[in-house]
Amino acid sequence: MLIDRFGRAHRSLRISVTDRCNLRCTYCMPESTPDYQPRQEILTFEEIVRFTKIAVSLGVDDVRLTGGEPLVRSQLHRLVEQLVAIDGLRKVSLTTNGVLLKEQLPALLAAGLRFVNVSLDALDEETFRSATRRGGLAKVLDAIDAAKQAGMLVKVNSIAMRGLTDRQILAFGEFARRTNIPIRFIEFMPLDSDGNWNTSAVLSGDEIIEMFSKQIRPLVPLDRAGSSPSADYQFDDGVGTVGVISSVTKPFCQSCDRFRLTADGQLRNCLFGEDSGDVRALLRSDSTDDAIGQLIQNAIAQKKLGHGTDDLTFLRPSRPMHAIGG
Ligand code: GTP
Ligand code: 5AD
Ligand code: SF4
Repeated sequence: MLIDRFGRAHRSLRISVTDRCNLRCTYCMPESTPDYQPRQEILTFEEIVRFTKIAVSLGVDDVRLTGGEPLVRSQLHRLVEQLVAIDGLRKVSLTTNGVLLKEQLPALLAAGLRFVNVSLDALDEETFRSATRRGGLAKVLDAIDAAKQAGMLVKVNSIAMRGLTDRQILAFGEFARRTNIPIRFIEFMPLDSDGNWNTSAVLSGDEIIEMFSKQIRPLVPLDRAGSSPSADYQFDDGVGTVGVISSVTKPFCQSCDRFRLTADGQLRNCLFGEDSGDVRALLRSDSTDDAIGQLIQNAIAQKKLGHGTDDLTFLRPSRPMHAIGG
């Protein structure tokens, strides 16, 4: 079991498979293409699978694939297939921007993927373009629909930013009620490449719930699911679910059960932490599984209680979101 100094058991591993992305969301990526990591520095699927098996032997039962944009990694379904086959791994899920999802859906389904979270920050083309600095809204909406039709468990994640989200409450409310897909709003965190984050740009979870309740119908809180970072609500007529991930105003560090592996094979014990173990170096030397397991144990043992949100000082990590994994 991966238990840290504060008694938190770590069952959830987030694996970034690439730092590349086909969008340029303002709150994440810089406008011009950043220096991506050279391909030979990125872990191979074999390396990721070996690492995951070791993590599962230590109690991990939930793996989420992230990026950059995971679907720009060639043949991602082949990795999914190998992960799904690992004994003891209860859940394999994917967080994607959805642009390439529809075309890869048949392969992902055949590989055994059943859980997908799609990021969607705008419901009209113009706003989508300004938020992502690229197009593709129709493709994302189509993919969400197709994934749901195919029986996947789909959730939508949307950044919560002042001037963006607050203008779309009616549209998001209509979307949530029409599709019945849970939609979660994530408070803007200081992980943007441009360094423009400031507290006034953060639209808080409380504000969002109030806006939906006033502009659409009252929202009623639902029981919190396990260690999920989102607080979920349902409209009072039972139609449509809205959640808020209040990482900034109500940090959920005390129930954190997750750690990360970056695309270049570095452990991160917190989204706001720093690299805390060079897995790639061990994978590429003659190290035993035990040595790699020990590296994971050490990373968990070093984990801090929180990431500085309590006084809004934030320990800003040295890498932006696309290079850590969402
Ligand atoms: P479910 O298992 O479906 O609940 O997924 P999830 O919420 O764990 O994963 P998802 O990728 O949908 O995460 C939603 C967002 O929550 C991420 O994109 C991040 O912005 C934020 N988030 C995820 N992990 C962390 C974390 O460790 N700390 C903080 N502060 N925010 C996180
Ligand atoms: N603050 C909050 N969420 C962010 N994401 C990317 N950058 C940030 C940020 N600075 C989220 C995206 C996407 C997920 C992969 O990470 O909205 O849903
Ligand atoms: Fe790409 Fe996701 Fe970052 Fe947007 S938030 S630029 S889709 S990695």
